[in-house]
Amino acid sequence: MKFFIDTADLDEIREAMSWGALSGVTTNPSLYAKTGGKLADFEQHMVKICEICEGLPVSAESTATTTQEMVEEGKRLAGLAPNVVVKLPIGVESLAATKTLAEDGVAVNMTLVFSAPQALLAARAGARYISPFVGRVDDIGSDGVASLEEIVRCIHNYDFGHECEIIAASIRSPYHVTAAALMGADIATVPFGALKNCVKHPLTAEGLAKFEADWEKVKNA
Ligand code: E4P
Repeated sequence: MKFFIDTADLDEIREAMSWGALSGVTTNPSLYAKTGGKLADFEQHMVKICEICEGLPVSAESTATTTQEMVEEGKRLAGLAPNVVVKLPIGVESLAATKTLAEDGVAVNMTLVFSAPQALLAARAGARYISPFVGRVDDIGSDGVASLEEIVRCIHNYDFGHECEIIAASIRSPYHVTAAALMGADIATVPFGALKNCVKHPLTAEGLAKFEADWEKVKNA
């Protein structure tokens, strides 16, 4: 499974890129707003992320509401850098926009996906990535992992004639990452905090402390 980082924060992206295990970035309007960014600076901010990522896929979300506007904004976003992936929320307008954009060679990440029918339609329309949300399903008291598993199994039953990867999104913990990997999701997009928690384990910290303490004895022997 590949790791994407789920943030628009340039410092978080730089830090995560330095670890050598990152395969891409996903952003959304809320994550961009969290950076304190202004509307006028959005596209340049996405370009900076693309430069930091050195060609890795970077999802930039369109806020357009009609098919025509999604196509126009999608082409503009895709023209910012070769590694821009246009993110569109699932809906009838975005399905139609995805078909047109995919036919024009623009990679689309269809987001805000919560059901297998939504995912299957997105794949059929030509989406290069599909982003089912896990955490937000948990947040309403349902089972986000089970929802993701349904989607993964349905998508993996078929060949859609184009590459179509599942990005497990709305990830809250290493548990979600493990569950996504066990079921065969292609990618997990993980917020910086949860990504750092994926590196940590209490027994790792405990073991390292003991190694260091015992090595001190060797050095002082
Ligand atoms: C990623 O593409 C999604 O926009 C993101 O994972 C949503 O995460 P959230 O549910 O924590 O806002």
